[in-house]
Amino acid sequence: DWNMPDYVDEAIGRVCSEVGSDEVILGLSGGVDSSVVAALLHRAIGTQLTCVFVDNGLLRLNEAEQVMQTFADNLGVKVIHVDARDRFMDALAGVSDPEQKRKIIGREFVHVFQEEAEKLPKAKWLAQGTIYPDVIESASAKTKKAHTIKSHHNVGGLPDTLHLKLLEPLRELFKDEVRELGIALGLPHDMVYRHPFPGPGLGVRILGEVKREYAELLRRADAIFIEELRAHGDGEISWYEKTSQAFVVFLPVKSVGVMGDGRTYDYVVALRAVQTQDFMTAHWAELPYTLLGKVSNRIINEVRGINRVVYDISGKPPATIEWE
Ligand code: XMP
Repeated sequence: DWNMPDYVDEAIGRVCSEVGSDEVILGLSGGVDSSVVAALLHRAIGTQLTCVFVDNGLLRLNEAEQVMQTFADNLGVKVIHVDARDRFMDALAGVSDPEQKRKIIGREFVHVFQEEAEKLPKAKWLAQGTIYPDVIESASAKTKKAHTIKSHHNVGGLPDTLHLKLLEPLRELFKDEVRELGIALGLPHDMVYRHPFPGPGLGVRILGEVKREYAELLRRADAIFIEELRAHGDGEISWYEKTSQAFVVFLPVKSVGVMGDGRTYDYVVALRAVQTQDFMTAHWAELPYTLLGKVSNRIINEVRGINRVVYDISGKPPATIEWE
């Protein structure tokens, strides 16, 4: 029989006896898993924990501020905020192949993280937000040599060249247990019940070459979509909660429109919202037309540079959830 308060104490005890007085580094992404690890380790070992948060320029609107606010300002966690936006954008310039983009983003992340880790020579441990399904997935990938349709760069982790011991306090937990643990540790509900966000971030939601200008437009459009999904629902449950993942995709395609007396020639975005149990198969969400209409109007009126919004009605398979 499992009860959360006992589990919290147990998990803290285990971390303390494993780590002792050593220092620990954690890559904090703002996603559920690394956030829960940060909260747990902070509770267990306080200032022996240093988090590294890398802004790769592919985060959502205000995401870096939110992460810093939740962890550094509110919880008092030591967080190094690395502004690596230029570095990632420069590395991605001229690259339009999706797999190539993923590789570059993964590689740059490792480099940036490694540079930060070298500044913390006392650290002996690298903490990671590996959860039970990741353990299973990587085990079956090794034995079956599973065909990877997309390379998920955050599964597999950082290189051994760091000479750090791995600390994976969520290794035996399923996602819903990780969420319960996050709540028990005092993390905000909205952070713990967030939709998943891919490691390469907006990099795989800007089709083809990534440009700062595209990322800026996408961030603003995406924030509007998410805000409206949170604001509308069926009774008590918002559309954000009724969908498993929802986001905007930037298409580097221009189409003609009219605005006031003038003609516009601006970019197109696609809305994607899916319902799924396991993310292996998914249905497009039957969002109400009124909601879609409101999102479309707001994006076109508020985000100068976008004049057309379409809705993706493709299931997985044959389409994937992300567009790249
Ligand atoms: P697809 O697009 O393959 O996505 O249907 C299934 C789930 O995986 C997420 N995804 C990624 N997550 N790194 C990640 O960490 C990646 O490169 C990546 N690609 C896709 C996607 O957001 C969805 O939840």
